Amino acid sequence: MLVASYHDFGVKAARKAVEVLLKGGSALDAVEMGIREIEGDPNVRSVGLNGYPNWLGEVELDAGIMDGKTLKACGVAAVKYVKYPITLARRLLEESPHVLIVGEGALKLAKALGVELASTTSSKHSQEAKAKKEELLRAIEKGELTGYRKEVYMKIYRLMTKVSHETIGVIAVDSWNNIVAGTSTSGLAFKVPGRVGDSAVVGAGFYADNKYGAAICTGVGEVALRTLAAFHAVRLLAENYTPQEVAEIVIERALAIAEQEGIEYRLGIVVANRFSVGAASMNWRDFKYVYWKEGMKEVTISPAKTLT
Ligand code: GLY
Repeated sequence: MLVASYHDFGVKAARKAVEVLLKGGSALDAVEMGIREIEGDPNVRSVGLNGYPNWLGEVELDAGIMDGKTLKACGVAAVKYVKYPITLARRLLEESPHVLIVGEGALKLAKALGVELASTTSSKHSQEAKAKKEELLRAIEKGELTGYRKEVYMKIYRLMTKVSHETIGVIAVDSWNNIVAGTSTSGLAFKVPGRVGDSAVVGAGFYADNKYGAAICTGVGEVALRTLAAFHAVRLLAENYTPQEVAEIVIERALAIAEQEGIEYRLGIVVANRFSVGAASMNWRDFKYVYWKEGMKEVTISPAKTLT
């Protein structure tokens, strides 16, 4: 059995996942329950309904989960009012043939499945979103009245990527050697309504295959989407690279994009097989990964290698 995650709050998620595994739960249970700990945590501003809203002041959530045994995967994106989006993703993985469901449709299915709903709780966030929206609209007006010209939009995008974007991700291997990966986030702070990041997209933010291992990403989702970072990682595991080598190769690829575009995108990845974990990040000096393996008394948290 093994559990991996990232960020300080990943310790809480990993502890829950370990508890589930030690009680005989499956890797799917461990990932879902671990991620729910953070989705429901009112102090975390980048995951769940307490996360930063989009620039209209609405919280839109992305989450996804993949079962390495069956290669079934499902993501939900830009979904509102769902308290535990990872649970919705898991239910849809198990009860539907679909791989990605967005917005209103995802909310309708959540209601139909009886998945718990809640409203966004933090009015403070709405105030911040309002201020940010006005700032962004001023920038648009100053730059180009005709709207989203590239250079104006890039200015806005740079602002958005500066605010916290720590996804919660968990990888778990259970006592049957099944491996599962999942992620959940409120996405880029003050994002454009409808913007979807990597955390809902299989192969980008998460991927798992019992044969080789799994990967989870965090950071600016566009980079993980463009490089299909999690899928790339698992393909490299299939070529017998170690999880640590894999993490660094994937980040190097993303770093090349950042350098080319002159944007300090942040990206972090954790890669695991049944035996060990690797982690790396770019432009993220305090990026940490979380690790537990059967026999260890406690979950550990350590700095990952950062490439710049
Ligand atoms: N990695 C989270 C996001 O970009 O939405």
